[in-house]
Amino acid sequence: MGYRILVLHGPNLNLLGTREPAVYGTATLQDVDRALAAEAEALGVEVRSLQSNHEGAIVDAVQEARTWADGLVLNPGALTHYSIAVRDAVAGVALPAVEVHLSNVHAREGFRRRSVVAPVCVGQVCGFGLDSYLLGLRALVGHLERSGRHA
Ligand code: DQA
Repeated sequence: MGYRILVLHGPNLNLLGTREPAVYGTATLQDVDRALAAEAEALGVEVRSLQSNHEGAIVDAVQEARTWADGLVLNPGALTHYSIAVRDAVAGVALPAVEVHLSNVHAREGFRRRSVVAPVCVGQVCGFGLDSYLLGLRALVGHLERSGRHA
């Protein structure tokens, strides 16, 4: 396999499918992870996914990724908007990261427009539902290839 990528899902994303379907769609987290696995296979990369409702578990997973991963795709959920701990973890491990959101966070409540994590990421993809993750994964792999990182 090529690059190894950690996909992180933050708080409440375990409820996907039943949680505010008008905003987040009807795909479940399992559907997202299945689609990511298929996309990863097509791209020739390895993806490991983890969901947690706990900030510290997300920080731990980002730190651990330093020992095995080439990059991160992360949907920090609400942590996006206030977690300096997640931001510092991403900055601290110095792995390229892409922030993704199912919804268009810029077209919703004002507090969702601000991401404290995005400034330490390569970029952000939002508003495309499940496809945000797939686009984010593709963008990360392209970035890794262009940066000349070896798998
Ligand atoms: C979200 C957007 C966040 O504002 C929200 O707190 C979430 C989901 C998204 O994927 O659209 O939990 O990250």
